Amino acid sequence: MKVIKNASQMQRIAFKHLLDGDEIGLVPTMGALHAGHISLIEKSVKNDDVTIVSIFINPVQFGPNEDYLKYPRPIKNDLQICKKNYVDYVFMPTVNDMFPSDHKTFVEVKTLQDIMCGVFRPTHFRGVATVVSKLFNISYADRAYFGMKDFQQLKIIEKMVKDLNFRTKIVPCPIVREKSGLALSSRNSYLSSQEKNFAISISKTLKEASIEFKNKPFNIVNKNALNKLKKIPNSKIDYIEIVNLNDLSPTSKNAKKAALAVAVWVGKTRLIDNIVMTK
Ligand code: PAJ
Repeated sequence: MKVIKNASQMQRIAFKHLLDGDEIGLVPTMGALHAGHISLIEKSVKNDDVTIVSIFINPVQFGPNEDYLKYPRPIKNDLQICKKNYVDYVFMPTVNDMFPSDHKTFVEVKTLQDIMCGVFRPTHFRGVATVVSKLFNISYADRAYFGMKDFQQLKIIEKMVKDLNFRTKIVPCPIVREKSGLALSSRNSYLSSQEKNFAISISKTLKEASIEFKNKPFNIVNKNALNKLKKIPNSKIDYIEIVNLNDLSPTSKNAKKAALAVAVWVGKTRLIDNIVMTK
């Protein structure tokens, strides 16, 4: 496994693999790797000749009062995880290499970036779309792996790839959860054990909603779920929405499939989760 810290060097290496006819898989991450990230890495290692994992805590996707500085950075452990899982290259650029002070170009996916999480994090998805575009150009990836945990992010990247004719195919990957149901997240490390117990109600609520969705109207399902989330101690709900799976528009009465997506603060930690529901 090679650790590459420079974007041009990574791009040269990737281009050589492309010329050699290798299929390249990219797993973009911000590190603090857990079983959710590992599930993406395993898929790439299985599907692709070469697997690149990027570890880059992208300052451009954090708002001014968000957790950029305190985001976990267990780099030694991350590298061990990558090595153990047969990653070929870990791409770990510096902030200055990716976003030098004269950086001027940003990618925006209109509408999709402004709803749901975008209401509360207005510059977040512009930061995500921009860094992911750069990672696609640097890695020449044939396939890039994204978790359904970040459902809105996945939809935004899919739209960006279509609109901007990127050659990279997006591979959506299912949410990996703890036994308790809690969706794995690098930010779970911020939770105290008591908060973690409270947070379990989020996935429990989603699961129950998906069962109700089979025979109840979606607005009732939404209302029941909202009432359950409101009961979580020391929490604040940013949003709870039932949306169309393809374009995140509000679901219609007759939809046979929809996603229930939530963002909930437990103490000082913002958690997101979602579930795909079918009739
Ligand atoms: P990060 O939060 O590190 O997540 C990296 C990838 O892992 C994302 O595609 C995310 O959806 C996936 N992931 C996280 N938790 C998961 C879980 N429990 N199950 C399955 N997949 C999971 O998302 C980002 O980083 C950044 O925004 C990034 C795309 C790297 C751009 O900076």
